[in-house]
Formats: sequence, C-alpha cells, structure tokens
Amino acid sequence: MTVRLLRTIAEVRAAHDEARHAGRTIGLVPTMGYLHAGHASLMDAARAECGSVTATIFVNPLQFAAHEDLSTYPRDLEGDLALAKAHGVDIVFAPDVEEMYPSGPVLTTVSVREITATLDGASRPGHFDGVATVVAKLFAIAGACRAYFGEKDYQQLLVVSRMAHDLSFPVTVVGCPTIREADGLAMSSRNVYLGPEDRAAAPALKHCLDAGAAAIAAGERSPDAIEATMSSVLAGEPRATMDYVAAVDARTLERPASLRGEVRLLVAAQVGPARLIDNLGVHAD
Ligand code: PAF
Repeated sequence: MTVRLLRTIAEVRAAHDEARHAGRTIGLVPTMGYLHAGHASLMDAARAECGSVTATIFVNPLQFAAHEDLSTYPRDLEGDLALAKAHGVDIVFAPDVEEMYPSGPVLTTVSVREITATLDGASRPGHFDGVATVVAKLFAIAGACRAYFGEKDYQQLLVVSRMAHDLSFPVTVVGCPTIREADGLAMSSRNVYLGPEDRAAAPALKHCLDAGAAAIAAGERSPDAIEATMSSVLAGEPRATMDYVAAVDARTLERPASLRGEVRLLVAAQVGPARLIDNLGVHAD
C-alpha cells in the first residue's frame, strides 16, 4: 500500500469526502512529525478502528513561545513517510505554514479555560491556545472522524477532548497509552535533544511518577505528601531541574485536600537541553 502525501487543505477535504462517501470512517492522527513508536501506536489504533487513516505533520508555530524550540524542532519528512507507510497510513497531510495560516497571524484563536490554568498551561503561557487553535483547524479540515492523541501529553488530551465537546466538532477524541523506552522514558520527539548523560538521567521522571504511585498504593491521599515524595525522587537526579510535580484529579486537574478515584500524577523537568513531561494514571480507593 502507498501513502499519499497531500500538501493542501482542499486535497485533504476532497480525499476525506471521497472516503466517507465510500462508507469509510476517517482516523486522524495529528502530529508535529519526527515520528516514533508512540506515534506509530496511534496510527495502529486508527488503522484497527477506521477505514481510512490520515496522519498530519505540522510544526505549529502558534504553540511555541518566542524562546522555545520552534526553529530547531526536529524534522524528517522522508523518515516520517516511511513510518506512516509501515503503519498503514493512507494519507499524510503535511501543509506548510502559509497553507495553514495564509493571512499571517490569526485573529481567531481557541481558548479552553480552567484546565489550562495549571501545569503546562501555567509554565507555557499561550501554549494550549496554540494547540487548541491548530487542532480546531485540523478538525475543521478533516471533517467527521475519530482523532487519536497520546496520553503522554495528558493535559493536551483533556484540552482537545473538551474543545471538541464544547464546539460540537463531529470528532471522537481517542486517548492512547504512553509508549516507553525499556528504561521507562516516555517516547517523545524531543528525546533526540538528549546527549548520552542526559539520556541516562531522563528516566528519573518515570521514577518520580512511580514513587507517587507507590505512595498512593501505600494509602497516602494528600497531594502535598505525594508531591513531596515525587519531588524528592526527582531531586535525586542532579541533571533534572524540576518545573512541576502534581497529584491531581484526573478529570478536572484540580487538587482536592484528599485524592479519591482516578488520579493523575504529572511531572515536567528540564534535563539538559530538553524540557520533558510525563504522567501516570492511578486509582485511589
Ligand atoms: O502533540 C502534538 O504533536 C501537537 O501538540 C499537536 C496535537 C499535533 C498540535 O500541534
């Protein structure tokens, strides 16, 4: 099977209309490229559930602050096409910035309140507006579909789910489990920034989450105490500089005095040149 590389919105709309006409459900996998096994798992899930799979590759300038890594973000379209083909993708939509934002800076943005006030939303002001805006555009371009996102970007998954719900997009958002390296490091395109020593240090994020999960398993329910345990484990890795650790309600990202039900443990840290994030779902009886 071949993968079709499309560059324009009009081409994607025509291809999707044709697929839907033929009775096929569209599976959409939005990405910024430099694809890895985590993206491949989203493609596999889409392939298993949908008649036609489209992966999008677009490094979205709107979601990067001026000091962030937009200009150095890794890119490899050839490698991405090979991976997409190997995982049964029918269409890769890789527009340039002018195709997505033909009038320059957008006057219309999408903003999801409350669940963006904390964690990465607090550390990266404007980031989730950029994500919600480009994903809204991708949903508008793709039309009715199932859209696959990794739990690795847990807050992003909540943001796009809530945005699709609030704006009545004909899109079912599907969250897929985080894929990890053998030593626990969550797969991320930004892992390529890690030199050997930082790469060896990076699993500290997973160790910090595991320590939080162990505290909950041992009966701890106080976010303060769980976060103290998590941050002390992260502090044990001198190459990691903590941005945040959090133990929150998985649905609202709120921090009750005592955690109950579905809990999400989250961490963000700078490890050498890479800002890494990770998270883990835990049930607290
Ligand atoms: O997770 C990503 O790769 C991006 O944030 C997304 C969802 C493709 C939007 O640019």
